[in-house]
Amino acid sequence: MFTSLRLPLIGLLSFTVAQAALAADCAPDQRHGAEVFANECGVCHSVTKGATGMMGPNLAGVVGRKSGSLEGFNYSQAMRNKNIDWQAENIAQLITQPQAYVPGTYMPYMGLASADDRQAVVCFLKEQH
Ligand code: HEC
Repeated sequence: MFTSLRLPLIGLLSFTVAQAALAADCAPDQRHGAEVFANECGVCHSVTKGATGMMGPNLAGVVGRKSGSLEGFNYSQAMRNKNIDWQAENIAQLITQPQAYVPGTYMPYMGLASADDRQAVVCFLKEQH
């Protein structure tokens, strides 16, 4: 019995590790990600392309976008100077503890404690073009 369990278990474990490392395989997380976004981010950010008037910059197309670069948004100097391209990994770092990742940021958010929630919301953002 144990031997028959071993192979799938190893497969499952390496899948989980790979997923944590790459934050890449998103399909199962889309729905949960949408919920996390609505609960944690949606009060300040829109993912409707072109929508303005929120406290935070529009996040449609944020994955692959240069930090602090959305035309017409009044970013902090800290975010302007960060000079990175937003990818799954660094968005996850930002939302873990915004003030630690971008000291002086205007993003008044304490951070998302659950790694699963971070992964899910980043997956959701990848699909918002
Ligand atoms: C209380 C409002 C608020 C909440 C909640 C919030 N943000 Fe933000 N966010 C901001 C503001 C304001 C900025 C601009 C920060 C700056 O200029 O320093 C920002 C910036 C960002 C950026 C950088 C965008 C860019 O164009 O460089 C990302 C990515 C981001 N937020 C993601 C998120 C995610 C994901 C969540 C939810 C887990 C979230 N934020 C929750 C207000 C918020």
